[in-house]
Amino acid sequence: MSDSDDDVPQLSAAALAALQEFYAEKMTETKQEQPALTDSYTVGSFKEDWHMSQFWYSDETAARLAEEAIQQAGKQGRIACVSTPSVYQTLKQLESQREDESHCVSSVLFEFDRRFTAYGHEFVFYDYNNPLCLPEHILPQSFDVVIADPPYLSEECLSKVALTVKYLTKGKILLCTGAIMEEHARKLMGLKICSYLPKHSHNLANEFRCYVNYDSSLLS
Ligand SMILES: C[S@@+](CC[C@H](N)C(=O)[O-])C[C@H]1O[C@@H](n2cnc3c(N)ncnc32)[C@H](O)[C@@H]1O
Repeated sequence: MSDSDDDVPQLSAAALAALQEFYAEKMTETKQEQPALTDSYTVGSFKEDWHMSQFWYSDETAARLAEEAIQQAGKQGRIACVSTPSVYQTLKQLESQREDESHCVSSVLFEFDRRFTAYGHEFVFYDYNNPLCLPEHILPQSFDVVIADPPYLSEECLSKVALTVKYLTKGKILLCTGAIMEEHARKLMGLKICSYLPKHSHNLANEFRCYVNYDSSLLS
């Protein structure tokens, strides 16, 4: 057997370039799946996955909804973000900029997408198909405000999400979903449609609206 270089299998320059490109893409994808924790509170730091019906809000909408939740939760209030990662992320950003700590709120993200386990104990795995399958430490009526945006525009999905929302909330509910869900939102949770129009980072075919069960500036 010879040990000369001639016996070592060689890749052509083109094959080598393709392989390097493949690994470079893989590295980028991996970074996208798990952004550094410091960046992970930026809306869009986790790419939308349309298989999970993920449509992130525009920065303006995420900020408006987060500010609304903070105002309604009150001093040291608790906010449940049900299938609304962008609102959770924006709440974390706003809280990190806050100077007066006595006013701070706390928030928990209830989500199906396990990439958000990056948020540690503030992430709770949630599948709307099992609406009351929640960890024991999540007590009933333990959140001042619940904000929810169900993955599907169907009565079946909204009625299950409504069970979770009613379990979690002390009273206040802020829902974002399609305009076509207005009647179901009223019947299931007593919600009124708002004038404020939520926007997404990509335009959606369906008209979206916000709904509340309390006096809100979003209404007018
Ligand atoms: C229409 S998006 C709402 C996201 C919101 N617009 C935002 O920017 O935060 C629906 C959300 O439901 C989540 N989701 C998908 N399948 C779910 C399931 N089986 N149970 C609960 N949530 C689910 C998605 O991951 C996504 O965050």
